Amino acid sequence: MNILVTGGAGFIGSHTVVELLNSGHSVVVVDNLCNSSREALRRVEEIASTEVPFYEVDIRDREGLERVFALCSFDCVIHFAGLKAVGESVSKPWEYYDNNVGGTLVLLDVMRKHGCKNIIFSSSATVYGDPAVIPITEDCPKGKCTNPYGQTKSMLEEILTDLHTADKKNGADAPWNVVLLRYFNPIGAHKSGLIGENPNGIPNNLMPYITQVAVGKLDHLTVFGNDYDTPDGTGVRDYIHVVDLARGHVKALQAIARNCGVEVYNLGTGRGYSVLDLVHAFEEANGVKVPYVIGERRAGDIASCYSDPGTAWKELGWKAEYDVVDMCRDSWNWQKQNPNGFEPGQTK
Ligand code: NAD
Ligand code: UFG
Repeated sequence: MNILVTGGAGFIGSHTVVELLNSGHSVVVVDNLCNSSREALRRVEEIASTEVPFYEVDIRDREGLERVFALCSFDCVIHFAGLKAVGESVSKPWEYYDNNVGGTLVLLDVMRKHGCKNIIFSSSATVYGDPAVIPITEDCPKGKCTNPYGQTKSMLEEILTDLHTADKKNGADAPWNVVLLRYFNPIGAHKSGLIGENPNGIPNNLMPYITQVAVGKLDHLTVFGNDYDTPDGTGVRDYIHVVDLARGHVKALQAIARNCGVEVYNLGTGRGYSVLDLVHAFEEANGVKVPYVIGERRAGDIASCYSDPGTAWKELGWKAEYDVVDMCRDSWNWQKQNPNGFEPGQTK
């Protein structure tokens, strides 16, 4: 298929571009590089031994997007572009609604004008809020999002679903096909160590924090609370290797190809690891120490969140292949080889 990948220079997007190319798809990338670098795509080209057409365009820029759609015809858009820092979204809600919701509305309008009504959307386990039952299945009711970032994901799920529903009701010849992928906690990196997660400033998320402590950029990890109702008192999450996650997108194209309407899939491993489990797994896998202290709970965090990924297995034949040792090894390999990551917006 001919695929447009928005946000393709970012962490998950760059790994997905590699997997799409490995599977024989044609890819065009659009990214405004606000949280990524041109260098990531150069390295994708090195891994895949092929060129990747790239347009430095903001998805809110209608004319810029129109130019890309006028040049190429797409079977599907895989839509990663967006801002993703939970804490920042609380202090800059307008920026998050404008970029994530406003940007997606422009993208959807340009897509329908050009006759492309197939989209795979990066959603998040955050839409479940604090789940009543775990492991979480897709029919678990959506919960209350405690931050604007989560709200944007939830709203966009509704918007995309409404587009399909309206088309069906109106008897449209080619209704929207929408795949909502709810990611759990992506970590790891491509095994080459050429691409990986590249957070701006001090990381918010656990694995990049661990790797920056291990490489000596940060002094120690603060574990956010050890009094949760979990086996060791620290928060439990479903960490998934980014390459497995990327392959989930390739598999999701099958749903698009069979005119799926609206489908929702959890992409996780189905296994929960606590913060201390992950710290110890990292230390063992890599033979390095990660000093930590126990701190206060972080506002908005929940005790446990892990998936039932069975629907993706039944309907797409997808399941995660990599385990926590692979994730820890590959995260460290990336960090060691790139102690300073890429500079955001770096063009060379
Ligand atoms: P990322 O920041 O590495 O990638 C996002 C990319 O989108 C970046 O390259 C950025 O420059 C680009 N971008 C942002 N706004 C844009 C705009 N207006 N126009 C064009 N490009 C724009 O993030 P990621 O971790 O790769 O996440 C990808 C998607 O998955 C995001 O939508 C994110 O919300 C979602 N997601 C991520 C996680 C996670 O833990 N990483 C979990 C659940 C969902
Ligand atoms: N944690 C620490 N110390 C840190 C960072 C995190 O103890 O310095 C703990 C958290 O309290 C939590 C666990 O590590 O228990 C994981 O935290 P992350 O910040 O890595 O991930 P979250 O589960 O909070 O959220 C992530 C993304 C969200 C996304 C969600 C589900 O940041 O955008 O996964 O996909 F919605």
